[in-house]
Amino acid sequence: MKFFLDTADVKSIQKWAETGLVDGVTTNPTHLSKEGGDPKKKIKEIISILPKGDVSVEVTEQKPEAVYKQALAIAKISKNISVKIPCHIDYYPVIGKLAKEGVSINVTLVFTAIQAAMMARLGVHYVSPFIGRLEDIDVDGMQLLPEMREIFDLYGFKTEILAASLRSVLHVRDAMLAGADVLTLPIALFEKMVQHPLTDRGIEMFNADWKKLGVKQFP
Ligand code: E4P
Repeated sequence: MKFFLDTADVKSIQKWAETGLVDGVTTNPTHLSKEGGDPKKKIKEIISILPKGDVSVEVTEQKPEAVYKQALAIAKISKNISVKIPCHIDYYPVIGKLAKEGVSINVTLVFTAIQAAMMARLGVHYVSPFIGRLEDIDVDGMQLLPEMREIFDLYGFKTEILAASLRSVLHVRDAMLAGADVLTLPIALFEKMVQHPLTDRGIEMFNADWKKLGVKQFP
């Protein structure tokens, strides 16, 4: 199981990479637009923080031929880039072609297990089901993950399931239980996951009790 950070915020990536738990980053046009500046520079900065990580960068062109060319240009930035392409019928031929050519593709905006299975057939590296956005329209998004896991295992698909649009710690637990290969986490969610008030309180209590013993050196 891998953890990616779902952000283009370089400072936060730097900070949380130090935990040793960050295997990659997923960016999207919204994240990069929010950070401002030159997006290519930003991507390179992220890669320098995680030289062995996997960094997803999304295409911004719309016409299939332009998407194909842009995907190749994005992939050229670094060997640890996965190119994000939306799961739209117009792009299926391009997705299949790029996957055959060995480009690591992360198919984004996946909302059904069938879409995911079709992308796995095309041989992509990752499929990104958007759990939270389904829940935004009152659909049980989390149900997607066990369905996808079952189908992928049944057919022996090697494509990795990258659980995206996760919004809560409960989402994280359920995505893990469903066997997602990768969980991409917004910074605020990662911050929540790494804390527990009872852990903090427990440390305080042990420290206070230890002081009562009055031992200067141990062991
Ligand atoms: C993943 O690759 C997406 O960038 C992300 O998870 C979208 O999440 P959101 O629905 O919270 O914007």
